[in-house]
Amino acid sequence: MSTPELLVAEQAARAAGTVLNHYFREGVSMRSKDTANLVSDADLEAERAIVEVIRHKFPSHEILGEEQEKGDTEAEHLWIVDPLDGTNNFAHRLPHFAISIAYYRQGIAQAGVVFNPVTGEWYTACRGQGAFLNGTPLQVASHAALDQTLVGVGFYYDRNVIMDATLAAIADLKRSQIHGIRRMGTASLDLCMVARGIFGAYFEYTLSPWDFAAGRLIVEEAGGRVSTCRGETPPIAQTSILATNGLLHEAMLGVVNARHPA
Ligand code: IPD
Ligand code: CA
Ligand code: CA
Repeated sequence: MSTPELLVAEQAARAAGTVLNHYFREGVSMRSKDTANLVSDADLEAERAIVEVIRHKFPSHEILGEEQEKGDTEAEHLWIVDPLDGTNNFAHRLPHFAISIAYYRQGIAQAGVVFNPVTGEWYTACRGQGAFLNGTPLQVASHAALDQTLVGVGFYYDRNVIMDATLAAIADLKRSQIHGIRRMGTASLDLCMVARGIFGAYFEYTLSPWDFAAGRLIVEEAGGRVSTCRGETPPIAQTSILATNGLLHEAMLGVVNARHPA
C-alpha cells in the first residue's frame, strides 16, 4: 500500500538517514539552542537532504521543518519534517532517534514516515490504508484498563511548570496502578510504540507539529486515537498530545487533563 507522496517521504527519509548515520558513527559537535535543546550539523544537513528530495518532486509544496523551513501551515500541500527527532539521544550516543516526515493535504495528514536509521525500522502510513512496520501491519493494544498498561511520556525542554505538571500526572498514573512509565526521548517513536501496541498510551504537554505529524497518522491508522491532553483535535501548531489505543482514552484524559498546565 503506498502513494506517490509516501514514496517521496521514504526517499527523503532514506537520504536523511545516510546523513544521520554518518554523524552518529563519526561524532558531531552539538550546540545549544536554549537550555538542553541541542542542535548540530547533523540536524541541519539532514533537513537539507529531505528538502532537496521533496522540492525536486513537488516544487510548489510548502515545507515546515524544525530547523530552517518555515512553510505556511495553511497551504493546500504541506510537508512537516523533523530531520532528527531525539537529538538528546543522538548527542549521548543512544541509538533511539528518528526522521519524521508527514504530508498534509488541506490540513489533513495523508502520508507519514518515521524511520530509525540505526535499527532500520520503518513506520509508515497512508490515510485509509493502515499502518506498517517494515511492511507488517500494525495494530494498537487491546486492553481497556490503566492497570494493564505501559505508558510513554515525554518532557518538553521546560524545567518548570510543564515539568511539574508532567511529574504530577505520572504520580497520578502510578497511583492508578499502571504497569510502568517509559521516557524514551523521541516523540515520533513514542507514538509508533502506541501504534505497535507496546504502549497503551503516550502523552506530552508540549510538542511541535514536526514531533507528532507523522506519528499521529500512524497511530490512527493502527486503530488508535490522538487528541490534545484536553481531548481536542490537535492543531498544526505547538500543543499537548495524548495518543492511546482508543479504549484507554477517556481514563487517560481524566488524568492528563486534570494536570494540564494552564
Ligand atoms: C524532542 C523529542 C523528545 C520530546 C521533546 C521533543 P527533538 O524533539 O521528541 O522526545 O520529549 O518534546 O522536542 O528536539 O529531539 O527534535
Ligand atoms: Ca522533535
Ligand atoms: Ca529535531
